[in-house]
Amino acid sequence: MINDEELIELAGKAREKAYAPYSGFPVGAALETEEGEVYTGVNVENGVNDLSICAERVALFKAISEGARDFSRLAVVCEGEYCKPCGACRQTLMEHEPDLKVLMGNLEGEYKEVELNKDLLPEAFQLD
Ligand code: THU
Repeated sequence: MINDEELIELAGKAREKAYAPYSGFPVGAALETEEGEVYTGVNVENGVNDLSICAERVALFKAISEGARDFSRLAVVCEGEYCKPCGACRQTLMEHEPDLKVLMGNLEGEYKEVELNKDLLPEAFQLD
């Protein structure tokens, strides 16, 4: 199992492949399964604005489409103090792993660890 710093590093490496010509704001994500596999993702923008997708959801959808279902940690890296997942990504991740650990990283390799349901999306909507 890799450590938190290594997961952040993978997210940072993935970020180099982001397709963000419109915002100029590349984001990288690395999602680890409970078995220790890692799926990376980047933001993929589109000239039709509504079609752009965030790095976190690309990583999640890659993982889900490969059959992964249980996740332990997500690292996200972008410019700024710490890279905070957007609301849509929080809700999408919530569906699959409410107690996911999220490492919000920056370009200096620093990160802040939070928990999805406790810190990022308390009182989340869930379809009963
Ligand atoms: N973005 C992400 O990839 N993840 C986030 O959590 C926040 C925003 C992307 C979307 C868009 O391509 C760019 O960052 C600027 O908003």
